[in-house]
Amino acid sequence: MAQKIQKPRGTMDILPEQSPLWQFIENKAHNVAKRYGFSEIRTPTFEDISLFKRGVGDVTDVVQKEMYTFTDRNGDTFALRPEGTASVVRAVLENGKTSDTMPLKLYYLINCFRYEKPQAGRSREFFQFGIEMFGAADPSADFTVITTANSLISELGIKNVSLHINSIGCPECRPKYRAALVDYFSAHKEELCETCRTRLETNPLRVLDCKSPICSALAKDAPKTIDYLCDDCKTHMDDLKLYLDGAGIKYEIDTKIVRGLDYYTRTVFEFIADGIGAQSTICGGGRYDGLMSQLGGPALPGIGFAMGITRLILAMEASGVVIDGDEKPVIYIAPLGKNAVSKALSVTESLRKENIKAECDIMSRSLKAQMKYADKIGAKYTLIIGDSELETGRAQLKCMVDSTQTEVEIDSVAKYIVS
Ligand code: HAM
Repeated sequence: MAQKIQKPRGTMDILPEQSPLWQFIENKAHNVAKRYGFSEIRTPTFEDISLFKRGVGDVTDVVQKEMYTFTDRNGDTFALRPEGTASVVRAVLENGKTSDTMPLKLYYLINCFRYEKPQAGRSREFFQFGIEMFGAADPSADFTVITTANSLISELGIKNVSLHINSIGCPECRPKYRAALVDYFSAHKEELCETCRTRLETNPLRVLDCKSPICSALAKDAPKTIDYLCDDCKTHMDDLKLYLDGAGIKYEIDTKIVRGLDYYTRTVFEFIADGIGAQSTICGGGRYDGLMSQLGGPALPGIGFAMGITRLILAMEASGVVIDGDEKPVIYIAPLGKNAVSKALSVTESLRKENIKAECDIMSRSLKAQMKYADKIGAKYTLIIGDSELETGRAQLKCMVDSTQTEVEIDSVAKYIVS
């Protein structure tokens, strides 16, 4: 027997019984994004590899270890997108959107690819809902982006979630902080894990969120970004806190939040859910005021976030959220004998055109088997069409809920249906 082919490790099939939940989340995401003034953007699944090298950062784990890359028949090298921000910035630039009225507010629902070790809440192909806002440097933009995430999370029914914010400064104050951090960790270099010893040279901020027990214990006493902020960054952070306090949005200042991608400046934040295991960051984002110019555009500030849909699902499950499955058929039409098939098909078709979910036999089943099937799919009504019904144009509409029968004109059956 031929061997069965399996899906690639770290990918998923979203089965029909799971789709209503995905659609529920996606519909809510569209709805919340639009309510907050964001418009949808769609970009290619793969991009020139240099977009992510330059955008996300050459020394990040995402670029160094996790990208799916390939060379096409023309010899050009691409990467499957590991995230959405760099692609959106590229699309904004390439399509001249930088001269649109500001702020430019965009959102996306995309699949992303990272070669990571799969576990609950972490896969190699995963799905993100994200938003990006351009042109607004003010902390009120940070507030708007954070509240957009907060609204979606609460409208999905997710409880036990906390908002963690931090500021990682700007090109003016970050070098001073970086130097302090390198000093601190260099004194403990021998204790650091191997990866962090390299990070110390390339990307010392990343040592702060290393999961190894020794590194994270050392990180506790490491210098904190917020103690090194320049006056402008400090005011930015203070104003954001003021706005969040004013709106009654709870948060904690979490100096460990540094984020894994290189483009961030000033505000960074994560929403972390309880009870969903190690991959508990359901949303991550922040400001990236230098990214647009780094990719060859004007110095346009940006801020955004992305949420992992599978992690939202885990958090919804942990919060006891239950979503209705697909709607059941309203009516099942059972043709009895060959002559009735054509009528059953055309009545079913016209009901569907009237927006009524109708089914009829396409398996040449016996009447008994048809009724069993109608029951199984949960049809509210059944209508049996045999030779005599064809002759009179009338048939018995049976309500499966209370077993009542009504004689109806077959062509007007829609009138008798209460869905
Ligand atoms: P990120 O933190 O790399 O940020 O990913 C954002 C979210 O995507 C995570 O918080 C998580 O929920 C989900 N996620 C990431 N990797 C995986 C995975 N392997 N499996 C399942 N879910 C995952 C970004 O991607 C930035 N582009 C966010 C952003 C937008 N910052 C500014 N604008």
